[in-house]
Amino acid sequence: MKPFSAACERNKDPILKALKSVITKTDRRLLEVGTGTGQHAEFMAPYFPHLDWHPTDLGERLPDLKHWFRELNLSNIKEPQRLDVGKDDFPKLKFDVVFTANTLHIMHWKDCKSFMKLLGNRLREGSRAIFYGPFNYAGNFTSESNRNFDALLKELDPLSGIRSFEDIHNNMTKHGFELMDDIEMPANNRLLVFNRLKFEG
Ligand SMILES: C[S@@+](CC[C@H](N)C(=O)[O-])C[C@H]1O[C@@H](n2cnc3c(N)ncnc32)[C@H](O)[C@@H]1O
Repeated sequence: MKPFSAACERNKDPILKALKSVITKTDRRLLEVGTGTGQHAEFMAPYFPHLDWHPTDLGERLPDLKHWFRELNLSNIKEPQRLDVGKDDFPKLKFDVVFTANTLHIMHWKDCKSFMKLLGNRLREGSRAIFYGPFNYAGNFTSESNRNFDALLKELDPLSGIRSFEDIHNNMTKHGFELMDDIEMPANNRLLVFNRLKFEG
């Protein structure tokens, strides 16, 4: 049976609308980190036919993803690859956009920091990193539902949890990015867009 996320069905339209304002006609490659069920790629990739969408996830997710994308046979979705943030480098390609949804609160903070460092190492000037999900601001949850969600996450894994916008912003700035946008999304989520400044690697 195809993996399915109800949350993905609810958020795919608003995320697509935001991505349309961030992805340009000259972008050629998008790396998706933590593709999950693949619903975002399936829904969004056809709206960006000039762009190759590269899905990635942990190794255990790949058999399902490969099977499903083969069935879909969408021309601009590439073969899913393993990318375990904290262990693996990005595929050796030039990416114009890196998109990740609902992953930073799952990854441990040390892996989030490795991810942001890798983004700084691998993205070139003008490339964008897009993070969708719930974030805390000034040490506060933005809703009761996010507070409850964070408690649930920590019950499952004490090292998971909703991340602080300021911690993310500080790390991204350290690794050569500026915040381009912080878009309010439904259900107390945000879409953060960071732009890689002049490359100094
Ligand atoms: C909550 S799901 C989100 C999936 C999808 N992006 C969505 O929005 O529905 C979190 C995803 O992150 C992946 N993930 C967790 N830890 C990861 C890591 N260290 N590196 C890469 N992906 C990771 C999981 O396998 C899972 O697919």
